Amino acid sequence: MAWRRVMVIGSGGREHALALALARSPSVTEVLVAPGNAGTERGDGAWTIRRVPLASLEPDAIVEVARAHAASLVVVGPEAPLCAGAVDALEAAGIPAFGPTRAAATLEASKAYLKELAARAGIPTAPFVIVDRFEDAARYIDRRGRPVVVKTDGLAGGKGAVVTSTPEEAKRAAHAMLVERAFGDAGARVVIEDRLLGEELSVHAVTDGDRVLVLPVARDHKRIGDGDTGPNTGGMGAFAPVALDRTLRERIEREVLLPTLTAMRDAGAPFRGVLFAGLMVTGDGTPHLLEHNVRFGDPETQVLLPLLEGDLAELFASVAAGQLACDAVRPAEGRHAVGVVLAAQGYPAAPRSGDVITGLEAAARVEGGHVVHAGTSTEGARVVSNGGRVLTAVGVAADLATARQRAYAVADLVHFDGVHARRDIAATAIVGSVERES
Ligand code: AMP
Ligand code: GLY
Repeated sequence: MAWRRVMVIGSGGREHALALALARSPSVTEVLVAPGNAGTERGDGAWTIRRVPLASLEPDAIVEVARAHAASLVVVGPEAPLCAGAVDALEAAGIPAFGPTRAAATLEASKAYLKELAARAGIPTAPFVIVDRFEDAARYIDRRGRPVVVKTDGLAGGKGAVVTSTPEEAKRAAHAMLVERAFGDAGARVVIEDRLLGEELSVHAVTDGDRVLVLPVARDHKRIGDGDTGPNTGGMGAFAPVALDRTLRERIEREVLLPTLTAMRDAGAPFRGVLFAGLMVTGDGTPHLLEHNVRFGDPETQVLLPLLEGDLAELFASVAAGQLACDAVRPAEGRHAVGVVLAAQGYPAAPRSGDVITGLEAAARVEGGHVVHAGTSTEGARVVSNGGRVLTAVGVAADLATARQRAYAVADLVHFDGVHARRDIAATAIVGSVERES
C-alpha cells in the first residue's frame, strides 16, 4: 500500500471533518491542515492531524506549503482557491491534487455559466434570465409576474442568492447587486430565476470526469432561524442520509450529474473532484438543479464522511490520478449522522469573535458524538471563537433520532457567549419517518 501524507487546504468545519476522515484512512500516516483552526491544531479527534501555517490561499502559496511538507496528496477544501487555479498550479508542480481545475470550477464561479450549461445540456433547472442592467432586471421581474430568486453571477460567500416573494423585493435585491454593488464585481451580472417549491437535497458525487460515485444524500438547513425563518446562511445544520427512492436517485444521476460531466468534457474542461449539486425536487418529482458547487458542502461534509467506510485518501488519490476507484469507500449499513452548527452572535451579518469556548472535553466524551471545529483559534490554553460558524456538534447512530439526540447532547455541553444554534435540525425528517412507519 502507498503510504500517504495528505494535506488539506482550508480552515473551516469541512476541512476539520475531511482531516478526521482522512486520518481514519488506512493508507494515511499523517494529515496536515493548512491553515486549519484550533481543532486541527490540538489534534482533536486524531493525533495524526497537524496544523501548518499558510499565509494565503493563493495557488503559489499552496504549492509552496505542499512542497515544504512533502505532501503526497493535496485536498483543496474551499471554492475560492479552486476557482483561482490551485489544482492547476499543484498539477503543474507535479503534486497530486484532489479538486477541479480552474476552468472546471467555473461551474461554481459563475451562475450564468451554470445556467447556460444546464439549458444547453437539457438539465432541469428553473426558467431564468441573465442581465447586467437594472432596467432589464426590473422589466423582467414585472413581466414574469411570479416570485423569483435573484442571484449574483459571481461568488458571494453563500449570501448571493435572495429568495423573494414580491416584485418590489426582487427589484430591491437586483438594485443592491447591480447598482449599489453590494457584492462588488460578483454582482455586476445577475441571474433571475423562478422561485421553485419543493424539497432541497445536497448530492455529492466524487468523479474522475467520466464516472461518478454518488455519496449518501444530505439535507442542509440554510436559514438562520428555527422553522426556516430569517436570512440564508452558509448552512446551520445537516443530516444524512436522506431516504430517496430508486427512481429519484436514477433521475438525479441520469438527468443532472452525467449530463453535467458530458457538457464539461465537451467544453474542454473535464470536471474532476467532488461535484456537489444543490437540487430542488418539485411536486412532480423532477430534480431541478439550483446550483453546482465544485467542493464539499459545509456542514454537509460533517455528516457525510462519518457514514463512509474504507479509505477516503485512496478515493481522492484515484481521482487525482484520473481513474476513479469506485470501491475505495462505501456507506456503512444503517448509519445516520446529524450536525448542528453553533454560530457566533451576530451571524450571518456581523459575527463577533473572541468569545471563550468551554465544555469541549465533556462534549468529546458523548457516546457517538464529537465536535468539529470551524471558526476557532487558540489563545494560550484557551479556545476562542474566530468566525461566524464556530463549531459543528455531530451525532452518529444507527437511527436518525438517536443521532439527533447525540448531536444536541454535544451542542448543549459546549458554551460561548452569544452562541446560537437551531433547535430543529433533522426534526421534520424524524416526524416524517415516524408517520411513515406507523
Ligand atoms: P444557491 O446559492 O443558488 O444554492 O442558492 C442558495 C439557496 O437559495 C438554495 O440553497 C435555496 O435554498 C435557495 N434557492 C436558490 N434558488 C432557488 C430557487 N430557484 N427557488 C427556490 N429557492 C432557491
Ligand atoms: N451548505 C451549503 C454549501 O456548502 O454551499
